[in-house]
Amino acid sequence: MSISNDTASMSRPRTGAQSAPATAAFPPDFLWGAATSAYQIEGAVHEDGRALSMWDRFAAMPGTTYQGQTGEIAADHYHRMEEDVALMAQLNLNAYRFSLSWPRILPQGTGAINERGLDFYDRLVDTLLASGIRPIATLYHWDLPVALQDRGGWLVRDTAYAFADYAEVVARRLGDRVDLWLTQNEPWCTAYLGYAIGIHAPGLRDKQLAVVAGHHALLAHGLAVPRLRAQSHDKSGTYPRTQVGIALDFYPVYAADDRPETLLAVKQADTFRNRWFLDPLFRGHYPEDLFTAMGVTPPAILEDDFSIISAPLDFLGVNYYSRMLVRGRTDSYEAVERIPGASYTEMGWEVFPDGLANILKRIDREYAPKALFVTESGAAFNDHLDGNDNIHDQQRTDYLRAHIQTVAQVIRQGVPIKGYVVWSFLDNYEWSEGYGKRFGLVYVDYPTQRRIIKDSGRWYASFVASQSAMSSSDRAGEG
Ligand code: FCB
Repeated sequence: MSISNDTASMSRPRTGAQSAPATAAFPPDFLWGAATSAYQIEGAVHEDGRALSMWDRFAAMPGTTYQGQTGEIAADHYHRMEEDVALMAQLNLNAYRFSLSWPRILPQGTGAINERGLDFYDRLVDTLLASGIRPIATLYHWDLPVALQDRGGWLVRDTAYAFADYAEVVARRLGDRVDLWLTQNEPWCTAYLGYAIGIHAPGLRDKQLAVVAGHHALLAHGLAVPRLRAQSHDKSGTYPRTQVGIALDFYPVYAADDRPETLLAVKQADTFRNRWFLDPLFRGHYPEDLFTAMGVTPPAILEDDFSIISAPLDFLGVNYYSRMLVRGRTDSYEAVERIPGASYTEMGWEVFPDGLANILKRIDREYAPKALFVTESGAAFNDHLDGNDNIHDQQRTDYLRAHIQTVAQVIRQGVPIKGYVVWSFLDNYEWSEGYGKRFGLVYVDYPTQRRIIKDSGRWYASFVASQSAMSSSDRAGEG
């Protein structure tokens, strides 16, 4: 596979410079959402029968996270769910992407169901629907029950079967009201960050283990797809709207120069960063050169694995934050870290809206999913509360506006994008970075847990309102 021309261009982000309105392109049923995940916001880690996840254990190990911070309290969402949904309504969201905590629902990972855990998500879903907000439920956003981690975690196939059972338990309870499901969030991070470089739970450092973990995460996804569909039903027993997908993280790769070794590096980096999970899901095999380039042997792949993994999906979730700019070396490559003239977020990630258009078009062209959602898009900046309860986060507003504009352009070119979900609804526990990095549309004052809508949240609320006003006037015009 060759990288398309627009992958290789090095054009600067056109933040703020695009004059075309971001509007018109978005259909009336477009979902405008914001996202969170269970361990990053819920807290209440010892309550109502929840058992620990591998992230509770990892974060408690010295030296793993910023200032030793953990998700023990996080944004205390478990106790503030109604207040938080009311804030979502104030932001005019018509969708909310959240994840369910597996150890809250199946404390041992398998077997006995903790009904109190399920009750929480049941109430959340009802509260969302009562506010006109469509739930988008992610089953796994990295918080594996420790009971399963102790039995090998993602290194063993049994975890994939356990995940499919868990999916069924959840869908049996919520499948009459939730019709948009994501099985896994970013299996690349599960595998590589958790098992190869150890900056995420469970903190292992062996590339060989990462490809095994990644294969089982894919298998888990594939096994869960039919189980979710089978359990999703409305009161009459059918739920034709049910849609199942997965959220992958993408970094479109660009060339820093046109030397042959750099062009080879672009291909290698793209295989590793974007195609490792995309190809098995949509083509039923791993990229040919993936494992040799990684210097590992392929994981054990049983006969039916790829047909399970590549079960047709209703949509693909695209998480996008930045791009990679690479420069080839004789036998390796390097990512260019500081690009002159570029702007960066607090995470050190380059702001590059064109990368989102690039990856959406490329996925559509080369993999043709039935539909696409941008399931995460957002930025951490250094937010300050002024004395009057304001957070003037102009950079975040600019970031979101520019990315939404690129989505509009791509829709106009015919790519079936059905929703845009901001990461994140509110400030939260940013994994190894702890509470030091704020991504929210809503500020959280952690000592008091007070929530304050940032300027970017106000901007997003009025943007979304203008979209629905426009679509109702369109409808009025049509009538
Ligand atoms: C993504 C994760 C999400 C959050 C953002 C910043 O990779 O899915 O939980 O950490 O990055």
